[in-house]
Amino acid sequence: MSTPVAHGSIRRRLLLSLLASAAVLAIVVYFVVQSVARQVAQESQDNVLTASALSILDSARLSGGEISIDLPYSALSMLDSISDERVFYAIRLEDEFLSGYADLPEPTGDPNGTSSFLSTTFLGEDVRVVLVKRRMSTDTGRSFLKVSVAQTLSGQKQALARISRTSMGIGAGFFLVSVLLAALISRSTIRPLDRLTGSVSRRGPKDLRPVAAPVPSEMVPLVASLNSFMRRLQQSLMRSEDFIAEAAHRVRTPLAVVRTKAEVAQRKSDDPETRKALREMIRAIDDSSRTAGQLLDHAMVTFRLDHLAREEISLHRLVQDTVERMRPTSELKDVTLEATEVETATIKGDPILVQNALHNLLDNAVKYSPSGAEIHVALTTTDDGAKISVKDTGPGFQTDELDVLPKRFARGANTQDIVGSGLGLTIAKEVVEAHGGTLHITNNPGGGACVSLVFPSS
Ligand SMILES: Nc1ncnc2c1ncn2[C@@H]1O[C@H](COP(=O)(O)OP(=O)(O)OP(=O)(O)O)[C@@H](O)[C@H]1O
Ligand SMILES: [Mg+2]
Repeated sequence: MSTPVAHGSIRRRLLLSLLASAAVLAIVVYFVVQSVARQVAQESQDNVLTASALSILDSARLSGGEISIDLPYSALSMLDSISDERVFYAIRLEDEFLSGYADLPEPTGDPNGTSSFLSTTFLGEDVRVVLVKRRMSTDTGRSFLKVSVAQTLSGQKQALARISRTSMGIGAGFFLVSVLLAALISRSTIRPLDRLTGSVSRRGPKDLRPVAAPVPSEMVPLVASLNSFMRRLQQSLMRSEDFIAEAAHRVRTPLAVVRTKAEVAQRKSDDPETRKALREMIRAIDDSSRTAGQLLDHAMVTFRLDHLAREEISLHRLVQDTVERMRPTSELKDVTLEATEVETATIKGDPILVQNALHNLLDNAVKYSPSGAEIHVALTTTDDGAKISVKDTGPGFQTDELDVLPKRFARGANTQDIVGSGLGLTIAKEVVEAHGGTLHITNNPGGGACVSLVFPSS
């Protein structure tokens, strides 16, 4: 039996695609968490900066056309008390510098809004600057009072690094959970396939019933074609079994009729020439009939071996049965047939085949022994198994032929005009080997053939 070639694996493909999407999602999660956290951190810093700048702006008083600012303590302390950030400010009336750091950069964008922001560097440090302004009426007319407040970013940078690590952790955790889920999902997806495989491969060799257990809808077409295949197989097996039986019947019956007619004609005829011709004809008919029978038997054996049954066979009963069936033939030839030593033994296999094998051995023993000979059949058991041996007191085998005789159509030199086709030992050998045993062919020390079937214990 050839094993099918595997190309890829559904489970692996499923697992890989799940893992790939999990990895993409984990990276997206990482960036989303990080950017949201960055934005939140930025907004809260901007809010504090704006609050502090507004409280400076609120403290501005106009007295006698002059602007006085009483810098509130809380305005800047709310900025540097949080961390060790440095804080800078600048107060300008339009472009005239009033107080603070004269060269503190000023955000330019959004002149109509209440506050505008700028990220830049000042005195060698990264800073965030806010600008708030308010219109004031002074001696020189209406002009803008502008307050800029700046804060260094070292604390925020640390916070961002922390956020980055956290989002990396969240991404990795997300990925790990996804891996676990992907493994579970792929296993549960494949499970119905595993179940189907198991239920089909657990079956006996003759079990061709359709698969009835429910399967997922995607597998229904597969199971349907499997079922229809098994149905066709079963029909064709039944047909060939019937065909073999039918063919055997059809070939043998007309041959038997022709043989009877030839015998009658032979008896009636007085012409020695005609009698001789008819005798040869009868012999040829016997040969064809035997060959047809053995060929069909062999076909039947081959067919049954393909689907070997594994029934319990009580060998002792089978031996006794087969011997009794052979008895009329042996008595006709005046050969003593005895089952001398029969122990109890059981094996697993096809009883029809084993019986056929033994029948061929008995047939040989009767056929090749002269009248007055004795045949002893024995069934003995050992630890390793059971042995059926058939010993006769006939001429025995020619030692140089021992290896050749079990081959198909091989006949010995001792056959003279004994009818046969050379298939009997072939059938016996194939049957015993299919049951895991061996066929032994030897001669008895005192002369005569000894053929045994050795079966391993089941
Ligand atoms: N008991 C026996 N004593 C002597 N020779 C035997 C014995 N059994 C088999 N042989 C020899 O072995 C040969 C092969 O036996 P096998 O049973 O295979 O074929 P066959 O008897 O010639 O034909 P058939 O197919 O009709 O049985 C025989 O032709 C015969 O020469
Ligand atoms: Mg034979």
